[in-house]
Amino acid sequence: MTATDAPDPHPPVPVLTIDGPSGSGKGTVSRAVAERLGWHFLDSGALYRATALAARRRGVDPGDIAALVSVARALDIRFVDRPGDDPAIFVDGEEVSRALRTESTGALASTIAAIPEVRAALVARQRAFRQRPGLVADGRDMGTVIFPDATFKVFLTASPGARAERRHKQLKQKGLDATLADLLQDIEARDARDAARAVAPLRPAADAVVIDSTGLEVEAVVDRVLRLVAARAADRTAG
Ligand code: C5P
Repeated sequence: MTATDAPDPHPPVPVLTIDGPSGSGKGTVSRAVAERLGWHFLDSGALYRATALAARRRGVDPGDIAALVSVARALDIRFVDRPGDDPAIFVDGEEVSRALRTESTGALASTIAAIPEVRAALVARQRAFRQRPGLVADGRDMGTVIFPDATFKVFLTASPGARAERRHKQLKQKGLDATLADLLQDIEARDARDAARAVAPLRPAADAVVIDSTGLEVEAVVDRVLRLVAARAADRTAG
């Protein structure tokens, strides 16, 4: 072995990014993959939702960029793991897991997420989740903006109809009310906004593997992602 062949004593912390539109199953898949790999998990959407919720509770005008930025910078958010369930999320010490998931919080999150200054205010906080032994990062711009050097990148999608149905089921399980027609309309409006915004629009990274989960069970998608990670890891070791 020559000096240049020697293994890097400080290899970068591996990151798997899973981006995609709302309802593509990315949250469930990302969490399951993180659990199977024993890696940390970043739910970046929760940061935008928590900023939206905190801003609304403080009566901040959604057009007041400076005030939104200070809410994002000062966000006091904590994720507490709950076995067999989504982590509980606390903002300013109060449990807000349910309030974060409502459609109105999601809609406001998507509006403020289109503001470049708000996105910039959340960058360092997202990158801080990159800790050993690895990170699974779930979002819209994980592979394109936040972790462009990620080891593995997946873009998960599904038809709008399939996504609306999944969302409907999820909300019902959480005891929240919504009609399928309203959800489909929300999903289409949110997709259009997320894809059209000037900063960090929703699109697959050039080096992402695109998986269409329409008609696939969660376990099948999780298996595909895990196989992809194993295959890439083997390539990297061999190369
Ligand atoms: O993923 P989730 O539905 O919780 O995200 C809520 C909103 O936050 C999305 O509709 C999107 O506008 C925004 N978001 C974003 N970038 C991310 C994650 C979420 O713009 N990385």
